[in-house]
Amino acid sequence: MRKNIKDDIDHILLTEEQIKTAVKELAGKIDEYYGNHDSRLLLLGILKGSVVFMGDLMKQISIPVEIDFMKVSSYGSGTASAGSVNIILDLYRKDLSNTEILVVEDIIDSGKTLNYLVGYLKLKGAKSVRTCTLLDKPERREVDFNTDWYCFRIPNEFVVGYGLDFDEKYRALPYIGVLKPEIYN
Ligand code: PRP
Repeated sequence: MRKNIKDDIDHILLTEEQIKTAVKELAGKIDEYYGNHDSRLLLLGILKGSVVFMGDLMKQISIPVEIDFMKVSSYGSGTASAGSVNIILDLYRKDLSNTEILVVEDIIDSGKTLNYLVGYLKLKGAKSVRTCTLLDKPERREVDFNTDWYCFRIPNEFVVGYGLDFDEKYRALPYIGVLKPEIYN
């Protein structure tokens, strides 16, 4: 018999209801910000952590949006490329000059992923590149980068759920929970 993944959660940090309210509020800000722009708006989800947030956010946005995905992985620390990211699935679009990109991420931690991606997408010719995250862990920042919009600032705790994993598990939890230390120690 498989165990219930909820048994590994120490406590719930953000409930489904809190997340739902915050996502709706963010969608309103996106409508307001991009509402009077003429360009195409592309929501660019970064796999895999962003999938749940992306799915919920796009349903709450009222202006026309397109969606696409990229998959990246960080180079390990201590390598010559630390601070850079490895593109596993790229964005293929013919012309980005009339496209405003809003990168959708589950979390900003060190900031390296978003910092790199914003530069990369601008180089690719996007008209604008902005970012939104469900979570922001400012204590962990290693580069001078902040997301344009975030839903929640959280302390430096080991959180999972709503797309975020530990060892590829817990992404399907509907809330953000703090993992019991014995699970990752
Ligand atoms: C997580 C998260 C961001 C990145 C944030 O991805 O989804 O992409 O780390 O960290 P940073 O601010 O320190 O760069 P992860 O590499 O765990 O992959 P996943 O989305 O597939 O879980």
